[in-house]
Amino acid sequence: MRKVLITGSNRGIGLALTHQLAAQGDVVFATCRQPEQAAELRALAHRYPDQVHIVGLDVTDEASIQQAFHVIARMTPALDWVINNAGVLVEGESLRTLDFATVMRVFDVNTLGPFRVVQRFLPLLQGSKQPLICQMTSIMGSIALTEGPGYYSYRGSKAALNMMSKVLAHELRPLGIPVVLMHPGWVRTDMGGPQAPLRPEDSARGILRVLSTVTLRDTGRFLTWEGKELPW
Ligand SMILES: NC(=O)c1ccc[n+]([C@@H]2O[C@H](COP(=O)([O-])OP(=O)(O)OC[C@H]3O[C@@H](n4cnc5c(N)ncnc54)[C@H](OP(=O)(O)O)[C@@H]3O)[C@@H](O)[C@H]2O)c1
Repeated sequence: MRKVLITGSNRGIGLALTHQLAAQGDVVFATCRQPEQAAELRALAHRYPDQVHIVGLDVTDEASIQQAFHVIARMTPALDWVINNAGVLVEGESLRTLDFATVMRVFDVNTLGPFRVVQRFLPLLQGSKQPLICQMTSIMGSIALTEGPGYYSYRGSKAALNMMSKVLAHELRPLGIPVVLMHPGWVRTDMGGPQAPLRPEDSARGILRVLSTVTLRDTGRFLTWEGKELPW
């Protein structure tokens, strides 16, 4: 039985991960910005009352992360996995229309958010015998695979997340905590859109299969939900 913290667990891939972990008997600290509006997540918590604990957490707000830390630290001395899943994507960007406040907001969520969470929750990860940090990134953050214009903020924020997480992997290696970058595939969520080929539950199943095999030897790797390596 693992204890797992997930950000952005009220919909999309985060909700699917929460569902599958709970169904297999793991305990999930399912965090989201607005628990009172998270109807599907609340239904899951009702179905799995011993497995799913809903906790408010906005990855851009240090006070809310601190508050979530106090709530979770009261429930457990250790966390096995932290899955930094929350993310945002802005459509229709071009040089002419680029809005810098929006770019900053996307970096705030996608790049800095995971680091705020890891910084605060590191003591609980250090209490685990098999700790792991999973940073939900994207193939769109791969510089090597970039084709065509657009998505400045999303692509930039995920490329920056990749780099900062690589550095984090080096810093946490002596502590025995692996850090992996995970591309979940193109998934049918609010972000991925209705054309996406993958269902959230299929992506989540693949992600969990890959994460369950990760050891310190894999730290700093950029992997897909199918366990394939991606170029930076
Ligand atoms: N779907 C794809 O095809 C795809 C492909 C590659 C990578 N990804 C990555 O996979 C992750 C999950 O994507 P998804 O498709 O499940 O997206 P989604 O359906 O749009 O869900 C995004 C989640 O992030 C949360 N979130 C946004 N801002 C937040 C904040 N400031 N604090 C806490 N939570 C916040 C949202 O909460 P609210 O409901 O409160 O907004 C929501 O729970 C993201 O990191 C995304 O970049 C997705």
